[in-house]
Amino acid sequence: MTASQPAKTTLVTVRPSDRPVTISKHIYGHFSEHLGRCIYEGIWVGTDSPIPNTEGYRNDVLEALKELKVPVLRWPGGCFADEYHWMDGIGPYEKRARMVNSHWGGVEENNHFGTHEFLRYCELIETEPYISGNLGSGTIQEMQQWVEYMTLDGESPMANLRKENGQEKPWKLTYFGVGNENWGCGGNMRAQYYADEYKRYATYVRNYSSNQIYKIACGPSADDYNWTEVLMREAGNHMHGLSLHYYTLPTGDWGRKGAATGFPVEEWFETLRRTLYMEEMIVKHTAIMDKYDPGKRVGLIVDEWGTWYDVEPGSNPGFLYQQNTLRDALVAGINLNLFHQHADRVHMANIAQVINVLQAMILTEGEKMILTPTYHVFNMFKVHQDAELLPLEFESPKYTFGAVHVPQLSASASRDKEGKVHLSLCNLHHEEELTLSLDISSLNVSIGSGQVLTHEKLDAHNDFSSPDVLKPALLEGIVLEEGTLRVTLPAASVAVIELTA
Ligand code: AHR
Repeated sequence: MTASQPAKTTLVTVRPSDRPVTISKHIYGHFSEHLGRCIYEGIWVGTDSPIPNTEGYRNDVLEALKELKVPVLRWPGGCFADEYHWMDGIGPYEKRARMVNSHWGGVEENNHFGTHEFLRYCELIETEPYISGNLGSGTIQEMQQWVEYMTLDGESPMANLRKENGQEKPWKLTYFGVGNENWGCGGNMRAQYYADEYKRYATYVRNYSSNQIYKIACGPSADDYNWTEVLMREAGNHMHGLSLHYYTLPTGDWGRKGAATGFPVEEWFETLRRTLYMEEMIVKHTAIMDKYDPGKRVGLIVDEWGTWYDVEPGSNPGFLYQQNTLRDALVAGINLNLFHQHADRVHMANIAQVINVLQAMILTEGEKMILTPTYHVFNMFKVHQDAELLPLEFESPKYTFGAVHVPQLSASASRDKEGKVHLSLCNLHHEEELTLSLDISSLNVSIGSGQVLTHEKLDAHNDFSSPDVLKPALLEGIVLEEGTLRVTLPAASVAVIELTA
């Protein structure tokens, strides 16, 4: 804030809802694709690697993900999924198919990380698997057999093959995607054509033994409302979830997306403005879904979201490796707040991607690892997982840049099972702090403490020589008296406040 400007105070009211909604923990999901250094190097280094590992999974990343309480992990793609033939990735390593990853950089894929390795990783990091099946170039039989291989208890050709490969008992698998981006890299289909194909394939994605599959249909790209209309009309009764993919590009131009660091203030503003578009899309897709599914049985599954920048100079363009700054922290906080606010329809979300790709939680370089600002936001916000949404009432001040404006405040609140209330607050403004006065008189809380992630540089980030440039700090100056909480958020900050009785 400049010296001449008076501090603005924004009034916010927090109160319990008479129609409680739970913020599904699955909103805090992640995505891991055979892309760049996400799987190989990021998750898997192999048992003979000098990098400390457990059964071939690097220890530092494994521990960091456990700490994050990852509720669900999507795999193997992405575009990779519709070219993936799962039988290439089972059995002895020396017999696994070696091939080219044609989507992502044309590098060798040796299939050492396959079904067993993925599902074991999910056990180790204590997360639920979400598998994307191949509808674009795979057969119905192949998809049916994969589900049988993973989930059938007892005797069958696929269950027996699984046992021969060392896994006696089936895994529990709930989430299964029937194709990925079938309007694009997954086969360039029309909505009507995909809806028919979805129903054919999904018929054979069976519930074996006691396993119950939650089937996710390929949903729209961003604001393609016609896709949602056709899918809900033609196949809504055959699905449990419909996906939505939306990436935030600073410029909106796929030819020159914008750099991850060293960007102008205009691109800070534009990135946040473009990420806020998520709300309009959720509202409009939800309105279409409500027509066919007023009871909100079908989840909107935002299984790819996050920032997408020009790759880091000198890195393989097919690897989608990018730095992660304070701006990404704001993008994460804004989107998580939106997903909370629309938790009645948004049942899951998976940020892209977990390690070394796009808006990652973790970056690695050889044996080194850093946690990104996005990781810190997910870690601060994880207190909302499976908590009850508390609606907020406020009129945000405007954050104006040139002739355009967006709300300066992004916020949400929840109450967890122990009765603790958490507020997550983002001040979007690049240079003005924001003073809040929150009416919490109906919550029966009296103690407040908080954490904040901020920096004076908008592109502040962690790197391998300075891994702690950006990390959460104590949020100072919280005043709680007579049912009112007062706090000032620094410019360009993400904060979480905890309130207890
Ligand atoms: O996350 C990178 C790619 O973005 C995914 O493979 C694809 O589904 C999307 O276009």
